[in-house]
Amino acid sequence: MTEDVHLTIDGNEVMAPEGSTLMEAAGLAGIVTPTICYHPATTSNGLCRLCVVEVEGQRLLQPACIVRASEGQKVHTDTERVQRSRRTILEMLAATMDLSESPEIQQMILDTGADSSRFPDSVRRESQLLDDNPMYVRDYSKCLLCWRCVQVCAEDAQYTFALSFDGRGYRTQIGTFFDRPIPETSCVLCGQCVAVCPTGALLPKREFLLQQGRRPDELGAGTAGKRRRRAGRLERGQDDPPNPR
Ligand code: SF4
Ligand code: FES
Repeated sequence: MTEDVHLTIDGNEVMAPEGSTLMEAAGLAGIVTPTICYHPATTSNGLCRLCVVEVEGQRLLQPACIVRASEGQKVHTDTERVQRSRRTILEMLAATMDLSESPEIQQMILDTGADSSRFPDSVRRESQLLDDNPMYVRDYSKCLLCWRCVQVCAEDAQYTFALSFDGRGYRTQIGTFFDRPIPETSCVLCGQCVAVCPTGALLPKREFLLQQGRRPDELGAGTAGKRRRRAGRLERGQDDPPNPR
């Protein structure tokens, strides 16, 4: 049986099940913690640090999505230091990557008063759009390395391991092993990575084509192979195979 821990968050007495994160404990007091890399379906790794809070007695700000609540803690989620840290993270993201398809992050920038021009000399992440499969396109200039897609492709859901980190340091980016095109990897085109991507770096092919001005009735890319195979069969005078359903 799990025990409860008692702590104070922004002056509220909170009783949370043992093992709860500070973010979950704050949620019990009705306090919403802003997050980017956190997703309920993936393992938290504390990468973006937007969720940081102040815990009395701790020198550093603590990422609320991974730090466990413990007995007697006094937590502050909205101090000047917390606000400044969150604002700076958003400013650095705005200065270095394309957030045009990230409405939630854009809203956070507005809400926190982050000045997206504060780092004018920063180098922007530029990447060529990768369009190598019928299911989705990848535009890593919009990627903030939250790692959600890697996790959902691995032990968190699909156990496919098609995506991973590529490169080192500043050049780190998400990629496939040996930079292979998606059809040459273990990817099964399940689409789970697209579903968890917070920035539009991974975009369904149909949505991408519509954005490019294609009409809905022109979007047959995903079934082009099937149509070609059927045309080949008809040319050879063969019947369609029976429908398995
Ligand atoms: S591609 Fe999307 S889900 Fe994957 S790490 Fe980048 S932002 Fe996160
Ligand atoms: S949401 Fe907690 S570190 Fe990203």
